Amino acid sequence: MPGPEVIWWRRPYSLDLIWPDDDKKLLPPGHLIFGKGIFVFQISKIMKDADFVYKGPGSLKNEGKVTWTAPSNIALVKYWGKKGLQLPANPSLSLSLSTSATTTELSYWSNESSDEEVSFDLFFDGSPKPSFRPKVADFFKRILPYVPFIKDYHLQIKTSNTFPHSSGIASSASGMGALALCVMSLEKELSGLEDEDYFLKKASFLARLGSGSACRSIEGPVVVWGGHPEYPGSNDLYGVRFAGGIHPIFETYRDSILLVDKGQKKVSSTLGHNLMNGHPYGESRFTHANQNMSRMRDIMRNGDLPEFVQLVESEALTLHAMMLTSNPYFLLMRPNTLHIIESLFEFRQDTGYQVSFTLDAGANVHLLYPNEIRSEVEDFIASHLRAFCEQGQFLLDRVGSGAELKSENS
Ligand code: PMV
Repeated sequence: MPGPEVIWWRRPYSLDLIWPDDDKKLLPPGHLIFGKGIFVFQISKIMKDADFVYKGPGSLKNEGKVTWTAPSNIALVKYWGKKGLQLPANPSLSLSLSTSATTTELSYWSNESSDEEVSFDLFFDGSPKPSFRPKVADFFKRILPYVPFIKDYHLQIKTSNTFPHSSGIASSASGMGALALCVMSLEKELSGLEDEDYFLKKASFLARLGSGSACRSIEGPVVVWGGHPEYPGSNDLYGVRFAGGIHPIFETYRDSILLVDKGQKKVSSTLGHNLMNGHPYGESRFTHANQNMSRMRDIMRNGDLPEFVQLVESEALTLHAMMLTSNPYFLLMRPNTLHIIESLFEFRQDTGYQVSFTLDAGANVHLLYPNEIRSEVEDFIASHLRAFCEQGQFLLDRVGSGAELKSENS
Protein backbone atom coordinates (compact mmCIF):
# COMPACT_ATOMS: atom_id res chain seq x y z
CA MET A 1 0.00 0.00 0.00
CA PRO A 2 1.84 3.13 -1.14
CA GLY A 3 1.94 6.15 1.15
CA PRO A 4 3.31 9.66 0.80
CA GLU A 5 6.56 10.28 -1.01
CA VAL A 6 8.46 13.23 0.35
CA ILE A 7 9.29 15.31 -2.69
CA TRP A 8 10.52 18.42 -0.98
CA TRP A 9 11.52 19.00 2.62
CA ARG A 10 12.79 22.16 4.13
CA ARG A 11 11.97 23.35 7.61
CA PRO A 12 9.34 24.22 8.58
CA TYR A 13 7.46 22.56 5.71
CA SER A 14 7.52 19.32 3.82
CA LEU A 15 5.72 18.74 0.54
CA ASP A 16 4.69 15.14 0.04
CA LEU A 17 3.07 13.37 -2.88
CA ILE A 18 0.25 11.12 -1.68
CA TRP A 19 -1.14 8.22 -3.60
CA PRO A 20 -3.55 6.70 -3.86
CA ASP A 21 -6.10 9.37 -3.02
CA ASP A 22 -7.63 7.10 -0.36
CA ASP A 23 -4.60 7.40 1.88
CA LYS A 24 -5.69 10.93 2.77
CA LYS A 25 -7.86 9.71 5.61
CA LEU A 26 -4.87 8.00 7.17
CA LEU A 27 -2.70 11.09 7.31
CA PRO A 28 -2.03 12.88 10.57
CA PRO A 29 -4.45 15.75 11.18
CA GLY A 30 -3.46 19.30 10.31
CA HIS A 31 -2.03 18.51 6.93
CA LEU A 32 -3.09 20.69 4.04
CA ILE A 33 -4.03 18.43 1.17
CA PHE A 34 -4.55 19.47 -2.42
CA GLY A 35 -4.56 17.99 -5.94
CA LYS A 36 -6.60 15.32 -7.70
CA GLY A 37 -6.33 11.68 -8.72
CA ILE A 38 -2.84 10.38 -8.17
CA PHE A 39 -1.43 13.91 -7.98
CA VAL A 40 -2.41 14.71 -4.44
CA PHE A 41 -0.03 16.70 -2.27
CA GLN A 42 0.14 17.53 1.40
CA ILE A 43 2.02 20.27 3.14
CA SER A 44 2.90 19.56 6.75
CA LYS A 45 4.15 22.23 9.10
CA ILE A 46 7.00 21.18 11.32
CA MET A 47 6.88 23.14 14.56
CA LYS A 48 9.85 24.85 16.12
CA ASP A 49 10.59 25.10 19.83
CA ALA A 50 9.28 28.70 19.96
CA ASP A 51 5.92 27.64 18.47
CA PHE A 52 5.21 25.82 21.74
CA VAL A 53 5.63 28.81 24.07
CA TYR A 54 2.21 29.66 25.51
CA LYS A 55 0.99 33.07 24.34
CA GLY A 56 -2.61 33.01 25.57
CA PRO A 57 -4.24 34.77 28.51
CA GLY A 58 -3.27 34.10 32.14
CA SER A 59 -5.19 32.24 34.79
CA LEU A 60 -8.80 33.12 33.97
CA LYS A 61 -10.15 29.87 35.28
CA ASN A 62 -10.23 29.22 39.03
CA GLU A 63 -10.40 25.45 39.11
CA GLY A 64 -11.05 22.35 37.09
CA LYS A 65 -10.34 18.68 36.63
CA VAL A 66 -9.35 16.52 33.67
CA THR A 67 -8.50 12.84 33.20
CA TRP A 68 -6.47 11.25 30.40
CA THR A 69 -5.34 7.69 29.72
CA ALA A 70 -2.12 7.31 27.72
CA PRO A 71 -0.69 4.01 26.46
CA SER A 72 2.69 2.45 26.88
CA ASN A 73 4.61 1.97 23.63
CA ILE A 74 7.13 -0.55 22.37
CA ALA A 75 9.89 0.63 20.04
CA LEU A 76 10.68 -1.42 16.94
CA VAL A 77 13.57 0.85 15.94
CA LYS A 78 15.08 1.92 19.25
CA TYR A 79 15.97 5.33 20.64
CA TRP A 80 19.21 5.01 22.59
CA GLY A 81 21.40 8.06 22.98
CA LYS A 82 20.38 11.69 23.24
CA LYS A 83 21.67 15.19 22.69
CA GLY A 84 20.68 18.63 24.01
CA LEU A 85 17.49 18.74 26.05
CA GLN A 86 15.91 15.35 25.48
CA LEU A 87 16.56 15.25 21.72
CA PRO A 88 17.18 11.82 20.20
CA ALA A 89 20.53 10.86 18.72
CA ASN A 90 18.63 8.80 16.12
CA PRO A 91 15.02 8.48 14.95
CA SER A 92 12.83 5.71 16.39
CA LEU A 93 9.49 4.08 15.59
CA SER A 94 7.07 2.42 18.00
CA LEU A 95 3.76 0.63 18.27
CA SER A 96 1.37 2.15 20.79
CA LEU A 97 -0.15 -0.47 23.06
CA SER A 98 -3.76 -0.84 24.02
CA THR A 99 -4.23 -2.10 27.57
CA SER A 100 -0.86 -1.24 29.17
CA ALA A 101 -1.58 2.36 30.08
CA THR A 102 -1.53 5.08 32.73
CA THR A 103 -4.62 7.00 33.77
CA THR A 104 -4.01 10.41 35.33
CA GLU A 105 -6.50 12.79 36.86
CA LEU A 106 -5.31 16.37 37.22
CA SER A 107 -7.29 18.70 39.50
CA TYR A 108 -6.19 22.33 39.59
CA TRP A 109 -7.17 25.36 41.59
CA SER A 110 -5.84 28.92 41.78
CA ASN A 111 -2.75 29.35 43.88
CA GLU A 112 -1.73 32.83 45.02
CA SER A 113 1.71 31.77 46.26
CA SER A 114 4.69 33.34 44.47
CA ASP A 115 6.92 30.27 44.98
CA GLU A 116 9.49 29.56 42.31
CA GLU A 117 8.47 25.90 42.22
CA VAL A 118 5.26 24.48 40.77
CA SER A 119 2.97 23.46 43.65
CA PHE A 120 1.67 19.89 43.39
CA ASP A 121 0.53 16.77 45.28
CA LEU A 122 1.01 13.33 43.83
CA PHE A 123 -0.99 10.18 44.51
CA PHE A 124 -0.27 6.78 43.00
CA ASP A 125 -3.00 4.14 43.36
CA GLY A 126 -4.71 6.40 45.91
CA SER A 127 -1.71 6.98 48.22
CA PRO A 128 0.92 9.74 48.31
CA LYS A 129 4.04 8.70 46.38
CA PRO A 130 7.07 10.72 47.53
CA SER A 131 9.48 8.63 45.41
CA PHE A 132 7.81 9.88 42.18
CA ARG A 133 8.05 13.55 43.19
CA PRO A 134 11.58 14.39 41.96
CA LYS A 135 10.87 13.18 38.41
CA VAL A 136 7.58 15.10 38.25
CA ALA A 137 9.16 18.22 39.79
CA ASP A 138 11.90 18.08 37.11
CA PHE A 139 9.25 17.64 34.44
CA PHE A 140 7.39 20.76 35.64
CA LYS A 141 10.62 22.73 35.76
CA ARG A 142 11.42 21.79 32.16
CA ILE A 143 7.96 22.50 30.75
CA LEU A 144 7.46 25.78 32.67
CA PRO A 145 8.85 28.04 29.87
CA TYR A 146 6.20 26.57 27.53
CA VAL A 147 3.26 26.48 30.00
CA PRO A 148 4.03 29.27 32.52
CA PHE A 149 0.39 29.28 33.73
CA ILE A 150 0.94 26.07 35.73
CA LYS A 151 2.58 28.25 38.41
CA ASP A 152 -0.75 30.02 38.97
CA TYR A 153 -2.33 26.78 40.17
CA HIS A 154 -1.98 24.11 42.77
CA LEU A 155 -1.97 20.80 40.89
CA GLN A 156 -3.25 17.56 42.36
CA ILE A 157 -2.19 14.50 40.38
CA LYS A 158 -3.83 11.11 40.90
CA THR A 159 -2.33 8.40 38.76
CA SER A 160 -2.50 4.63 38.31
CA ASN A 161 -1.26 2.04 35.82
CA THR A 162 -3.15 -0.90 34.33
CA PHE A 163 -0.02 -3.04 34.52
CA PRO A 164 1.07 -4.26 37.94
CA HIS A 165 3.37 -2.01 39.91
CA SER A 166 6.93 -3.35 39.85
CA SER A 167 6.36 -5.45 36.74
CA GLY A 168 9.62 -4.18 35.29
CA ILE A 169 7.60 -2.25 32.70
CA ALA A 170 8.63 1.37 32.52
CA SER A 171 5.65 3.56 33.30
CA SER A 172 7.48 6.78 32.45
CA ALA A 173 6.28 6.84 28.81
CA SER A 174 2.58 6.37 29.57
CA GLY A 175 2.85 8.38 32.82
CA MET A 176 4.49 11.45 31.27
CA GLY A 177 2.22 11.13 28.23
CA ALA A 178 -0.94 11.22 30.37
CA LEU A 179 0.34 14.11 32.52
CA ALA A 180 1.38 16.16 29.47
CA LEU A 181 -2.10 15.69 28.00
CA CYS A 182 -3.71 16.88 31.26
CA VAL A 183 -1.52 20.01 31.18
CA MET A 184 -2.57 20.61 27.57
CA SER A 185 -6.22 20.34 28.56
CA LEU A 186 -5.58 23.09 31.10
CA GLU A 187 -3.95 25.18 28.35
CA LYS A 188 -7.00 24.56 26.18
CA GLU A 189 -9.32 25.74 28.99
CA LEU A 190 -7.34 28.97 29.35
CA SER A 191 -6.76 29.81 25.71
CA GLY A 192 -9.78 28.27 24.00
CA LEU A 193 -7.32 26.34 21.83
CA GLU A 194 -9.20 24.51 19.07
CA ASP A 195 -6.37 23.28 16.89
CA GLU A 196 -6.33 19.55 17.64
CA ASP A 197 -3.16 19.04 15.65
CA TYR A 198 -1.32 21.65 17.73
CA PHE A 199 -2.76 20.16 20.94
CA LEU A 200 -1.34 16.71 20.14
CA LYS A 201 2.00 17.99 18.90
CA LYS A 202 2.52 20.14 21.98
CA ALA A 203 1.41 17.30 24.30
CA SER A 204 4.03 15.10 22.65
CA PHE A 205 6.61 17.91 22.88
CA LEU A 206 5.94 18.35 26.63
CA ALA A 207 5.90 14.58 27.28
CA ARG A 208 9.33 14.33 25.61
CA LEU A 209 10.72 16.73 28.19
CA GLY A 210 9.64 14.29 30.92
CA SER A 211 10.88 11.09 29.25
CA GLY A 212 12.04 10.83 25.64
CA SER A 213 9.97 7.83 24.61
CA ALA A 214 6.86 9.40 26.24
CA CYS A 215 6.47 11.60 23.16
CA ARG A 216 5.48 8.40 21.31
CA SER A 217 2.69 7.66 23.83
CA ILE A 218 0.21 10.31 22.65
CA GLU A 219 -0.97 8.91 19.32
CA GLY A 220 -1.13 5.52 17.64
CA PRO A 221 -0.99 2.96 16.16
CA VAL A 222 2.54 3.67 14.87
CA VAL A 223 4.54 6.72 15.92
CA VAL A 224 7.83 8.11 14.64
CA TRP A 225 10.06 10.38 16.66
CA GLY A 226 13.22 12.00 15.29
CA GLY A 227 13.79 13.62 11.93
CA HIS A 228 14.20 11.23 9.01
CA PRO A 229 13.96 12.37 5.38
CA GLU A 230 11.65 9.51 4.39
CA TYR A 231 9.05 10.17 7.09
CA PRO A 232 6.88 13.21 6.35
CA GLY A 233 6.69 15.66 9.24
CA SER A 234 9.14 13.69 11.40
CA ASN A 235 11.33 15.76 13.67
CA ASP A 236 13.27 15.67 16.92
CA LEU A 237 10.88 17.77 19.01
CA TYR A 238 7.78 15.55 19.07
CA GLY A 239 6.38 12.29 17.79
CA VAL A 240 4.16 12.07 14.71
CA ARG A 241 1.83 9.35 13.54
CA PHE A 242 3.23 7.17 10.77
CA ALA A 243 1.75 8.84 7.71
CA GLY A 244 0.31 7.16 4.67
CA GLY A 245 -1.25 4.06 6.14
CA ILE A 246 0.26 0.93 7.63
CA HIS A 247 -0.35 -2.57 6.32
CA PRO A 248 -3.59 -3.89 7.91
CA ILE A 249 -1.72 -6.79 9.53
CA PHE A 250 -0.06 -4.33 11.94
CA GLU A 251 -3.34 -2.69 12.99
CA THR A 252 -4.24 -5.75 15.06
CA TYR A 253 -0.73 -6.90 15.93
CA ARG A 254 -0.26 -8.51 19.36
CA ASP A 255 2.37 -7.80 21.98
CA SER A 256 2.72 -10.25 24.88
CA ILE A 257 5.08 -9.10 27.57
CA LEU A 258 6.90 -11.88 29.41
CA LEU A 259 7.93 -10.63 32.83
CA VAL A 260 11.34 -12.15 33.42
CA ASP A 261 12.46 -9.64 36.01
CA LYS A 262 9.89 -7.52 37.78
CA GLY A 263 12.39 -5.50 39.80
CA GLN A 264 13.62 -1.96 39.31
CA LYS A 265 15.56 -1.21 36.13
CA LYS A 266 19.25 -2.08 36.55
CA VAL A 267 20.34 0.91 34.48
CA SER A 268 18.37 4.13 34.54
CA SER A 269 17.46 5.48 31.10
CA THR A 270 19.41 8.65 31.80
CA LEU A 271 22.59 6.73 32.54
CA GLY A 272 22.05 4.40 29.57
CA HIS A 273 21.54 7.25 27.08
CA ASN A 274 24.61 9.03 28.42
CA LEU A 275 26.72 5.94 27.81
CA MET A 276 26.20 6.55 24.08
CA ASN A 277 28.24 9.78 24.29
CA GLY A 278 31.71 8.81 23.18
CA HIS A 279 30.65 5.16 22.80
CA PRO A 280 33.09 3.33 20.49
CA TYR A 281 30.24 2.16 18.21
CA GLY A 282 27.93 5.14 18.79
CA GLU A 283 28.22 6.88 15.42
CA SER A 284 27.81 3.66 13.45
CA ARG A 285 24.79 2.75 15.58
CA PHE A 286 23.13 6.09 14.77
CA THR A 287 23.79 5.60 11.04
CA HIS A 288 22.50 2.04 11.24
CA ALA A 289 19.32 3.16 13.05
CA ASN A 290 18.63 5.65 10.25
CA GLN A 291 19.04 2.86 7.68
CA ASN A 292 16.75 0.62 9.71
CA MET A 293 14.14 3.39 9.74
CA SER A 294 14.17 3.32 5.92
CA ARG A 295 13.72 -0.47 5.92
CA MET A 296 10.99 -0.25 8.57
CA ARG A 297 9.05 2.29 6.52
CA ASP A 298 8.76 -0.20 3.65
CA ILE A 299 7.87 -3.06 6.00
CA MET A 300 5.14 -1.02 7.70
CA ARG A 301 3.56 -0.53 4.29
CA ASN A 302 4.06 -3.89 2.63
CA GLY A 303 3.58 -6.14 5.69
CA ASP A 304 6.63 -8.30 4.88
CA LEU A 305 6.71 -10.34 8.10
CA PRO A 306 9.98 -12.27 7.64
CA GLU A 307 11.69 -8.89 7.08
CA PHE A 308 9.85 -7.48 10.10
CA VAL A 309 11.01 -10.33 12.35
CA GLN A 310 14.62 -9.95 11.25
CA LEU A 311 14.71 -6.18 11.64
CA VAL A 312 12.91 -6.02 14.99
CA GLU A 313 15.10 -8.68 16.58
CA SER A 314 18.26 -7.17 15.19
CA GLU A 315 17.26 -3.77 16.65
CA ALA A 316 16.64 -5.30 20.09
CA LEU A 317 19.96 -7.13 20.09
CA THR A 318 21.78 -4.03 18.85
CA LEU A 319 20.36 -2.03 21.77
CA HIS A 320 21.73 -4.65 24.16
CA ALA A 321 25.00 -4.82 22.26
CA MET A 322 25.42 -1.10 22.89
CA MET A 323 25.10 -1.72 26.62
CA LEU A 324 27.43 -4.71 26.51
CA THR A 325 30.11 -2.57 24.87
CA SER A 326 29.77 0.67 26.81
CA ASN A 327 32.01 1.84 29.59
CA PRO A 328 30.93 0.79 32.18
CA TYR A 329 29.21 -2.21 30.53
CA PHE A 330 25.88 -3.73 31.49
CA LEU A 331 24.39 -7.13 30.92
CA LEU A 332 20.65 -6.54 31.13
CA MET A 333 19.38 -9.91 29.91
CA ARG A 334 18.85 -12.65 32.47
CA PRO A 335 19.32 -16.40 31.85
CA ASN A 336 15.55 -16.69 31.39
CA THR A 337 15.61 -13.96 28.73
CA LEU A 338 17.89 -16.22 26.69
CA HIS A 339 15.80 -19.32 27.42
CA ILE A 340 12.77 -17.53 26.04
CA ILE A 341 14.58 -16.29 22.94
CA GLU A 342 16.01 -19.74 22.18
CA SER A 343 12.64 -21.41 22.70
CA LEU A 344 11.10 -18.86 20.37
CA PHE A 345 13.69 -19.62 17.66
CA GLU A 346 12.79 -23.31 17.91
CA PHE A 347 9.06 -22.58 17.83
CA ARG A 348 9.52 -20.44 14.73
CA GLN A 349 11.64 -23.11 13.07
CA ASP A 350 9.08 -25.84 13.84
CA THR A 351 5.90 -23.94 12.97
CA GLY A 352 6.96 -21.27 10.48
CA TYR A 353 4.94 -18.75 12.50
CA GLN A 354 6.25 -15.21 12.20
CA VAL A 355 6.64 -14.37 15.88
CA SER A 356 9.45 -11.99 16.84
CA PHE A 357 10.87 -10.80 20.12
CA THR A 358 11.96 -7.39 21.16
CA LEU A 359 13.53 -6.05 24.36
CA ASP A 360 13.70 -2.74 26.15
CA ALA A 361 16.62 -1.81 28.36
CA GLY A 362 15.87 -4.71 30.69
CA ALA A 363 15.30 -8.46 30.91
CA ASN A 364 11.60 -8.69 29.97
CA VAL A 365 10.74 -10.04 26.52
CA HIS A 366 8.02 -8.68 24.24
CA LEU A 367 6.63 -11.19 21.73
CA LEU A 368 5.15 -9.55 18.64
CA TYR A 369 2.86 -11.53 16.32
CA PRO A 370 -0.13 -11.22 14.00
CA ASN A 371 -3.57 -11.55 15.50
CA GLU A 372 -4.42 -14.52 13.27
CA ILE A 373 -1.95 -16.79 15.10
CA ARG A 374 -2.88 -15.43 18.49
CA SER A 375 -4.25 -18.61 20.02
CA GLU A 376 -1.31 -20.76 18.82
CA VAL A 377 1.23 -18.29 20.24
CA GLU A 378 -0.64 -17.85 23.50
CA ASP A 379 -0.82 -21.63 23.94
CA PHE A 380 2.94 -21.75 23.36
CA ILE A 381 3.49 -19.00 25.95
CA ALA A 382 1.42 -20.88 28.52
CA SER A 383 3.00 -24.27 27.84
CA HIS A 384 6.67 -23.35 27.18
CA LEU A 385 7.52 -19.78 28.15
CA ARG A 386 5.55 -19.09 31.26
CA ALA A 387 8.02 -21.18 33.29
CA PHE A 388 10.72 -18.59 32.55
CA CYS A 389 8.62 -15.66 33.82
CA GLU A 390 8.90 -14.36 37.37
CA GLN A 391 5.95 -15.88 39.28
CA GLY A 392 4.72 -17.15 35.90
CA GLN A 393 3.50 -13.67 34.99
CA PHE A 394 2.98 -12.25 31.53
CA LEU A 395 0.71 -9.59 30.01
CA LEU A 396 -1.29 -9.93 26.82
CA ASP A 397 -1.60 -6.70 24.88
CA ARG A 398 -2.11 -5.47 21.33
CA VAL A 399 -1.60 -2.41 19.18
CA GLY A 400 -3.76 0.56 20.20
CA SER A 401 -4.81 3.86 18.76
CA GLY A 402 -3.30 6.32 21.24
CA ALA A 403 -4.35 8.34 24.28
CA GLU A 404 -7.95 8.97 25.30
CA LEU A 405 -9.62 11.83 27.12
CA LYS A 406 -11.63 10.19 29.92
CA SER A 407 -13.36 13.20 31.45
CA GLU A 408 -13.15 16.96 31.61
CA ASN A 409 -14.52 19.16 34.39
CA SER A 410 -17.00 16.51 35.47
O1 PMV B 1 12.31 7.30 27.27
P1 PMV B 1 13.51 6.73 27.94
O2 PMV B 1 14.53 7.79 28.24
O3 PMV B 1 13.13 5.91 29.14
O4 PMV B 1 14.25 5.74 26.91
C1 PMV B 1 13.65 4.57 26.45
C2 PMV B 1 14.61 3.81 25.62
C3 PMV B 1 14.16 2.42 25.16
O5 PMV B 1 12.96 2.04 25.77
C4 PMV B 1 15.23 1.42 25.53
C5 PMV B 1 14.01 2.39 23.65
C6 PMV B 1 12.84 3.14 23.09
O6 PMV B 1 12.98 3.70 22.00
O7 PMV B 1 11.76 3.14 23.72
